[in-house]
Amino acid sequence: MLSKKMISLLSEQVKNEFESAYLYLIAADYFHSEGLPGFASWYINHSKEEVEHAMIFYDYIHRNNERVQFFNLEPTRTIYSSLTKPLEDTIVHEDFITTCINQIYEVAAKEKDYRTTNFLTWFITEQQEEEENAHANMDKLNLFGNNPAGLYLLDKEMGNRYGKHNKGE
Ligand code: FEO
Repeated sequence: MLSKKMISLLSEQVKNEFESAYLYLIAADYFHSEGLPGFASWYINHSKEEVEHAMIFYDYIHRNNERVQFFNLEPTRTIYSSLTKPLEDTIVHEDFITTCINQIYEVAAKEKDYRTTNFLTWFITEQQEEEENAHANMDKLNLFGNNPAGLYLLDKEMGNRYGKHNKGE
């Protein structure tokens, strides 16, 4: 059984994950326009992964015989003009998502809702990976992005990553 507060928090996380998907899609659109199909591919795949995250929360709410509360989406609508900005935004956003997950966990623990703390454990681990990916992308762009040959090879690597690892590792 989920408390009303927990249903609301989990539902809000459905919204947050869809906003994440939108943010990644905006970045993909920008990278496509910049002639970087590898970066665009990575961001599209990650956008799909965010939708999967949203649906995991959706399914969890329904498996507990409750209904999802829907909120208006408030996605960032940044018009990008530099290669680094989408990557910076990704880092900030993933930090925000980690904070959200931690806050839900804290409430669940306080309510002794151990089913939900157990459910959230996967997301806590996932956020470690999400933050690592976000920082790794930024680090690589800083290292190789100013050199056209380096950027070309980095774009190729970005395009291959989801092909080899479904989680963008
Ligand atoms: Fe689903 Fe990138 O957090």
